[in-house]
Amino acid sequence: MAESRIANFGAGPSALPESVLHEAAQSLLNFNGTGIGIAEISHRSKEFDIYIKETANLIREQLDVPSTHEILFMQGGGTGQFSAVVLNLLARHRLLHPDLPEQDRVLDYVLTGSWSKAAYTEATRLANGATVRIAADSRAHSADGKSFNGLPPHSAYAFSSDPALIYYCENETVSGTQFAGTEGTPASFPFHLLPKNPTSGLLPLVGDYSSSFMSRPIPRLADHAIIYAGAQKNLGPAGVTIIIVRQDCIVDVDAAYRIGGAPIPISLAYKPYADNDSMPNTPSVLAIYVSGLVLKRNKGLGGVSYYEEFNKRKQEKVYDVLREGDAKGVLKPKVREGEGSWMNIVFGVIGEGAEARFLAGAEKRGMKGLKGHRSVGGIRVSLYNSVTEEWTDQLVAYIREFIEVESKTPATAPVTEA
Ligand SMILES: Cc1ncc(COP(=O)(O)O)c(C=O)c1O
Repeated sequence: MAESRIANFGAGPSALPESVLHEAAQSLLNFNGTGIGIAEISHRSKEFDIYIKETANLIREQLDVPSTHEILFMQGGGTGQFSAVVLNLLARHRLLHPDLPEQDRVLDYVLTGSWSKAAYTEATRLANGATVRIAADSRAHSADGKSFNGLPPHSAYAFSSDPALIYYCENETVSGTQFAGTEGTPASFPFHLLPKNPTSGLLPLVGDYSSSFMSRPIPRLADHAIIYAGAQKNLGPAGVTIIIVRQDCIVDVDAAYRIGGAPIPISLAYKPYADNDSMPNTPSVLAIYVSGLVLKRNKGLGGVSYYEEFNKRKQEKVYDVLREGDAKGVLKPKVREGEGSWMNIVFGVIGEGAEARFLAGAEKRGMKGLKGHRSVGGIRVSLYNSVTEEWTDQLVAYIREFIEVESKTPATAPVTEA
């Protein structure tokens, strides 16, 4: 059966390590010798209770999460967190500043692609009188003034002085831009420009790490109020969302409601999850289980520093061949040099029918999931942790072959027939 598996470059849900899938298959029948399968066992069982705590610890250890922050497992995905971060941080702000006029509660959003734009749109729905601002918008720095094809320059950021929330998306899965993993470079997130609260020194900084979680270390993790990620790209199956939240952001949302805040659905409030080891209700047992297996495997390999090296190599190979294709007039990068994602590389294929030929040729060679997001078209190569170097080499060899054929006889020699 394993032989019939193909190279999966899908953007998510995405590939998982084969060894993990084998182990999970066994556990579907019998989890940890209990005689009950992992999809059947009670989340209140002793065995699962131990497992979920171990899984949180694996994240803590590998990302070096300080004791100031809790690790929660919730449901609702990244989209649920678009709402949750607004509701919980507005409640926190109200408890800190009960008498502030509503419009003086400010939410700052950095827009770098369709996901941060979606988060911003949700904030405008839920703001309840608070002001939702754009602190920087990468479209303003594109040639046509409307494309998310790069990152804003540091000089373009204008943060509010004491916002309730500052939001950014570290890796834009659709437009293919990503903040650099090293600080102090033009493509890094401008941490040095953030307004620290004059009394507490704490930042209400929220990072959407949905499509880059565990792929390399997180810069300034301890300075974040909230980091979240759906599991379904780098970690496990869809159904569980990981939230790393600083303790001062786990607030009593009912207390905020009593002094005029919006009512908050209990499934989106962080406190019940923090108070009950992520189990105020039934969690995604199976998704947490598989994510735990992936995390154990990651640890054995060397954790995020291992993946940083591994993912760096893979993306370099793809960007190199993309540059070759660009020089030969066959491929067109969609993101400015140096601002592209390690996880999702997006480009166009030039010429009548060329994109379809590219995709058909890839599929014929056992490589799938390369079609760009429906909103932007083109090609998207997702290189998550479980995409092997062999798959990457296979794809790069195919792209090189495609460039050769297309650059010689663009319209007449489809590489699919090679
Ligand atoms: C960066 C980013 N944020 C948020 C989301 C939304 O996540 P979900 O589909 O889990 O709601 C996605 C989905 O792909 C994403 O890539």
